[in-house]
Amino acid sequence: MATHFTLNGKPASVDVNPDMPLLWVLRDHLNMTGTKFGCGMALCGACTVHINGEATRSCVTPVSAVAGKKVTTIEGLSATSSHPVQKAWMEIDVPQCGYCQSGQIMSAAALIAKTPKPTDAQIDDAMTGNLCRCGTYPRIKKAIHLAAEIQAKAAAKTSASADAPDSAAVLAGGAE
Ligand code: FES
Ligand code: FES
Repeated sequence: MATHFTLNGKPASVDVNPDMPLLWVLRDHLNMTGTKFGCGMALCGACTVHINGEATRSCVTPVSAVAGKKVTTIEGLSATSSHPVQKAWMEIDVPQCGYCQSGQIMSAAALIAKTPKPTDAQIDDAMTGNLCRCGTYPRIKKAIHLAAEIQAKAAAKTSASADAPDSAAVLAGGAE
């Protein structure tokens, strides 16, 4: 029986065993290989994706569990690597070998979506299940703080431009 869900904003459908882990479906059936296999037992975080906005280990999530839900992978986080977490990761130059990093980024993105200004303790708590054998943890923490700042600045800019009078109307003398 086919399972239908939304993948990175588009409808997706797979006709596989409903118990098949979402990670296998993403990588082997939908060619989304940005999400990595590490342990297969919810112990490393390499396979983290968002399901309805929640950071979730796709290696232990049967595909049947995402029927009708929204799945976002690293490929769908932003169209141009412009998500605040991606920008911060590039600025701090976080990755070493890179293997764990898509999972780290997805966990960090879920964190700042819910907690826009996380403390060190909140970062530790949210990121504790994402392992990095290269030990990039200090850069990850720094990048999450920077991502929160980038996100806050973008939000302030958006609200300022929403408040600004329409410039064409001003020039035409029509703004009140
Ligand atoms: S591969 Fe899923 S947590 Fe390690
Ligand atoms: S960057 Fe190598 S495992 Fe994290």
